[in-house]
Amino acid sequence: MEKTFIMIKPDGVRRKLVGEVLKRIETKGLSIEKILMTKPDRSILVEHYSEHEGKSFYNDLIEFVSSGSVVLIQVQGEEAIRIMRNLIGDTDPVCASPGTIRGDLANSKTENIVHASDSESSASYELKLWFGDD
Ligand code: PPS
Repeated sequence: MEKTFIMIKPDGVRRKLVGEVLKRIETKGLSIEKILMTKPDRSILVEHYSEHEGKSFYNDLIEFVSSGSVVLIQVQGEEAIRIMRNLIGDTDPVCASPGTIRGDLANSKTENIVHASDSESSASYELKLWFGDD
């Protein structure tokens, strides 16, 4: 079984979309193994988003994700990484297909509700970073 890391970002929490996102994960047949709401420190976000350091949007991204509470989720299931990437949809809401979380609910490249690991290596890095060893 594959595990992946999902984060509901501050816009998703503020807009009361936590239940909606969890429902989409569970109705797809994936399992929520761990879940935690927290206000992330800038330092852990710098580690989480290290691959984007230096990009034009990096400062806006860190500022936004540190602006409020987030929900951290460990999701498990067959092909969980690819399934979750498909469920959330394209980063750009203009390109995100209807039926995906971003396609249905987001209207901004920054405030796009949810993050999902994009590969096995990022899933294992992010799960370890946010939940520790286990
Ligand atoms: S890249 O350069 O293609 O790897 O970037 P991308 O995968 O599209 O996006 C990576 C994360 O950066 C966020 N992002 C932005 N934040 C703020 N402003 C702008 N313009 C912007 N563009 C992309 C995007 O939401 C991704 O966040 P996560 O949390 O990883 O989904």
